[in-house]
Amino acid sequence: MATSAKKRRVAFVCSACGHASARWMGRCPACEEWDSLVEEAAGGIASTTIGVPIPLNEVPSDPSARLASGWGELDRVLGGGIVPGSLVLLAGEPGTGKSTLALSLADRLSPLNVLYVAGEESVRQIRMRADRLGVDSGRIQLFAETDVTRVESAIRATEPDLVVVDSIQSMYSPEVPSGPGSVIQTRSCTVTLMRVAKELEIPIVIIGHVTKDGAIAGPKVLEHAVDAVIQFEGDRHHAFRILRAVKNRFGSCSEIGVFEMGATGLVEVKNPSERFLSCRRRDVSGSVVICTVEGTRPVLLEMQALVSQRTYGMPQRTVTGFDLRRLQMLLAVLGRRANIRLSDRDVFVNAVAGARIDEPAADAGVVAALASAARDKPVPDDLVVIGEVGLGGELRTVSRIEQRLAEAARLGFRRAVVPGDAAEQRRDGLEILPASDISVLLDRIR
Ligand code: TYD
Ligand code: MG
Repeated sequence: MATSAKKRRVAFVCSACGHASARWMGRCPACEEWDSLVEEAAGGIASTTIGVPIPLNEVPSDPSARLASGWGELDRVLGGGIVPGSLVLLAGEPGTGKSTLALSLADRLSPLNVLYVAGEESVRQIRMRADRLGVDSGRIQLFAETDVTRVESAIRATEPDLVVVDSIQSMYSPEVPSGPGSVIQTRSCTVTLMRVAKELEIPIVIIGHVTKDGAIAGPKVLEHAVDAVIQFEGDRHHAFRILRAVKNRFGSCSEIGVFEMGATGLVEVKNPSERFLSCRRRDVSGSVVICTVEGTRPVLLEMQALVSQRTYGMPQRTVTGFDLRRLQMLLAVLGRRANIRLSDRDVFVNAVAGARIDEPAADAGVVAALASAARDKPVPDDLVVIGEVGLGGELRTVSRIEQRLAEAARLGFRRAVVPGDAAEQRRDGLEILPASDISVLLDRIR
């Protein structure tokens, strides 16, 4: 409707979930929390737009102005580097290495000047981390401050090339009558930093904590208030860290970067397939190599399945890095179309090295791993399995099949099971084994 196109000003924000509303309500319609709507400080979002209109062709366009770290894994996720004047949210669970990544980035931007705002740790702690990382620089100015207005003054006074705010949850604005870390504060500080970034054309990286469910106090509600969101993933038990672009106003948001956390900080993993497969044990049933495409890059990964006697009660289905519903679907297809029934067994599926698979192209590999585990018969170790599985048990085509096969050939695989309609694919050194459905697939891996 033409009349509703006119935007109403946000005046109230839910302090629990960040839902914005034009009027006050007793209960938030989004998260159903009672009495959580708070009036947003005057100026809110609207004040981010500054200055006067200018002709489009007078806007400077210079992609080379991006700040690149020289770390391919990081720059690719950022779409080539950080755009001047952009506000980037670096989100992740506590302990994944956000501060480490930000400090390494600051170091790698040499000879540019960086202002590092430390709201969580003392400057001494940061110095210790810097020593550990081998960062030795007078270009990085440390500023222990949590008042966002003082941070703004410091940015204006020092005019650095990049600002890091660690973390946004530790910042507060004295004009906002709510405690630090609350959604209102976090939003308000983000809006202030966005305005400063745009006005001074200084890029700002804000670090934001997310909890396991991704919901609490911040990053989720900040996503729409920043130009780019990059998420750092990985758990403490694995050295691998995956950097993922979740939103990017200046680039693609399907790219990932792979890092490894070591004793002296983060190291980029330029060759993820090789690294992910390096600890693979051969001759073990239930292990299959699949190929997923992350952004523009094919990555080979090992999927593992284990099938065992049910221990008690309901049979368990446990997944790590794979979707539970997808597994249930594949188990149903396996039972119905290939007569491998696992309904009274415990089933475990694991994407190795802390990876997270959300691509249907992994289906056929998971089915192969399940069958191999059920039969306790290893899958040949020179074989990679590619394909989506449909409810009829058919193997469906997947995107970028050539690239997947090229990656498999590059890493020395000799055979590839592919969906039937990819039968015409050719790749030197790789025998193409088309499979129209899972029965054929299961014959192929015997
Ligand atoms: P940190 O960057 O502090 O995480 P975040 O800011 O996301 O909370 O570092 C996370 C963990 O990484 C920390 O528990 C220790 C570990 N670590 C290393 O293993 N090697 C290193 O060189 C550094 C600096 C940290
Ligand atoms: Mg930190």
